[in-house]
Amino acid sequence: MSVSVITGASSGIGAALALALAQKGHAVVLVARRQDRLEALAAQLRTQYGVKAHVLAADLTSAAQRRQVVKQAAAWAQTIGEPLTILINNAGTGVWDDFIQQDEDTLQRDIDLNVSATTHLTRDFVTHALAHRAPSHVLNIASLAGLLPAPGFAVYSATKSYVIAFSEVLAHELKGSNVRVTCVCPGGVQTDFLALAGQKQISNIGMMQADVVAGLMLDAMFAHKVISVPGLLNQLSALARHLPSGIRSGLVGKSMAMTVTSSRKPT
Ligand SMILES: NC(=O)c1ccc[n+]([C@@H]2O[C@H](COP(=O)([O-])OP(=O)(O)OC[C@H]3O[C@@H](n4cnc5c(N)ncnc54)[C@H](OP(=O)(O)O)[C@@H]3O)[C@@H](O)[C@H]2O)c1
Repeated sequence: MSVSVITGASSGIGAALALALAQKGHAVVLVARRQDRLEALAAQLRTQYGVKAHVLAADLTSAAQRRQVVKQAAAWAQTIGEPLTILINNAGTGVWDDFIQQDEDTLQRDIDLNVSATTHLTRDFVTHALAHRAPSHVLNIASLAGLLPAPGFAVYSATKSYVIAFSEVLAHELKGSNVRVTCVCPGGVQTDFLALAGQKQISNIGMMQADVVAGLMLDAMFAHKVISVPGLLNQLSALARHLPSGIRSGLVGKSMAMTVTSSRKPT
């Protein structure tokens, strides 16, 4: 069939995307830092779906490590005689707290992963795909926070706004070529992301399951959508981007407070 590279495949949405692609018969290259989790998922995909799966342990905040990703994935694809045709930039982190409380290293980590890794992996992949001419896809995972900047998520929201703008322009520039670009903006999804961001879930309102979101993301990619928001409630919420910023920030802050609280501060 073809080979898909999925970053952040060791948990949450990334693992669900890998499962969904394997179910469709795609060979997969699984990328993240936790090699043991990637190996376990690769073994599951081989037995459950009979697909080929390769593990690439890499810290994508490191320029040297991320430079190896497309190169090594393409080399592995060649050894199994399949074209490398899909890149999913899914790995992402964020911290939910007042901007001024956040430390320099954490903020830089989020920018390096969400912005720099997405940008440079895309450049490496698109260069490869244009040279090989097979119909190919880039799927970038942004967030509803990139359309509706969320109080407490200043830098995270800004990194996801970057991913949306970047994807939109790239999709335009690549029109007529063999490479399509899709950017998906999920709202709340039940994964480890919430706890890692310093959030404690207090309600299920608007929260989606990772396997459901992953299915909708792949549908959007194969339908060649440029920007897609999964789920009706999220699509309705996204309309708030047309409101004046002061009103919008207040509404977004209130709606987040219905679902999550800080796991750091006493309630
Ligand atoms: N969950 C939500 O509510 C939500 C909502 C909107 C958008 N999103 C976006 O969806 C994407 C997936 O998040 P998720 O919810 O599935 O979260 P998750 O379960 O925490 O998964 C994040 C993934 O990113 C990987 N990762 C983190 N730092 C990395 C690094 N330095 N190098 C390589 N990989 C790294 C993690 O693997 P390792 O730790 O093994 O490296 C993990 O596989 C993110 O881009 C997130 O911003 C999530």
